Amino acid sequence: MLINDLSARIRAHEGAIVAATNRVISSGWLVLGPEVKRFESAFAEYLGAAHCISLANGTDAIELALRAMGVEAGDRVATVANAGMYTTTATLAIGAAPFFIDVDLVTRNTTLFEVDRAITAGVKAVVVTHLYGLATPQIREISQHCAKHGVRLLEDCAQAHGTMIDGQRVGTFGDASSFSFYPTKNLGALGDGGAVVTSNADIADRVSRLRQYGWTDKYRVEFAGARNSRLDEIQAAILLTFLPHLDSANTRRREIAARYSTMIKHTDVLLPEPMGPEYVGHLYVLRSPHRDSLRAHLRTLDIASEVHYPIPDYRQPVFGEQYSHVRLANTEQLVGETLTLPCFPEMTDAQVDEVIAGVNSWRP
Ligand SMILES: Cc1ncc(COP(=O)(O)O)c(C=O)c1O
Repeated sequence: MLINDLSARIRAHEGAIVAATNRVISSGWLVLGPEVKRFESAFAEYLGAAHCISLANGTDAIELALRAMGVEAGDRVATVANAGMYTTTATLAIGAAPFFIDVDLVTRNTTLFEVDRAITAGVKAVVVTHLYGLATPQIREISQHCAKHGVRLLEDCAQAHGTMIDGQRVGTFGDASSFSFYPTKNLGALGDGGAVVTSNADIADRVSRLRQYGWTDKYRVEFAGARNSRLDEIQAAILLTFLPHLDSANTRRREIAARYSTMIKHTDVLLPEPMGPEYVGHLYVLRSPHRDSLRAHLRTLDIASEVHYPIPDYRQPVFGEQYSHVRLANTEQLVGETLTLPCFPEMTDAQVDEVIAGVNSWRP
């Protein structure tokens, strides 16, 4: 069994995908056109934000949002180190430096305490990643704390399309938020895509310049740090066909996660509690002190699993010894314990039960 079967999603929506693609091809307008505009307003409305600026991918979304918020070379940006290095990559691209903050062992997301530590250390901006599809529980308090100290807050929602806290979607708590539409995401295109979402008109305007060479008018460049990072019309049209199904797909993901959390019974496995709308089941990630043995066992049963993520950002080989002084106890513990099980909306109940039986039959 695959960790995520995209061909099942494509089969389920094939007619609509072909119709959307044909509509764009016959229109002859292929980049930044009417489909992009329609998708941007539909997605902003879905989230409850004023602006969505689509981009080529989610890493550009982090970088261009940070630039639009005023982050420059030499600044420091707070980020977790357990989320796959994307924010660190974007930060480095600006010439800024990551300031690594720890996460809570249970939620795997960061905390007000850690954000405060970063603010005290003098960061220019904070990036909060809603990891695995779970809203960072203290996002509201973090947002208020950043505002009080004049520090910009970016929410990275690449794994959290549709997640809600008290009826409010994540991506609307900070100054801006970044999204990825990579195919495996809860809202995924059939290629790369991303977006910045914000209710701040100035940030929105800057991102829309930065995605297209820094132009204010055609061929007139006023903004530094720009690039070409545009969403194409075919991807926008496909995202428009998937968006109306996002909530029901998230509900199905949550059902699968709840079934795992109630039916997996193993003394060497720690499971996330079943959750409500604050979790959209992007990844179902358990913990075990013998994670590698469980992974090997599942492999013998032909069940794929993954480790999200195996290396804390500050231990990536690219840094050499640069961050050898950094120690984040929870991040380091989680790196050795986390294991992701298959969880995608098109999974059948029989497949879910096969995974459950697989884990329960493991003898470490
Ligand atoms: C948490 C997180 N942030 C950022 C990204 C970057 O998105 P992209 O792959 O579209 O650049 C991803 C996914 O790849 C992600 O999971």
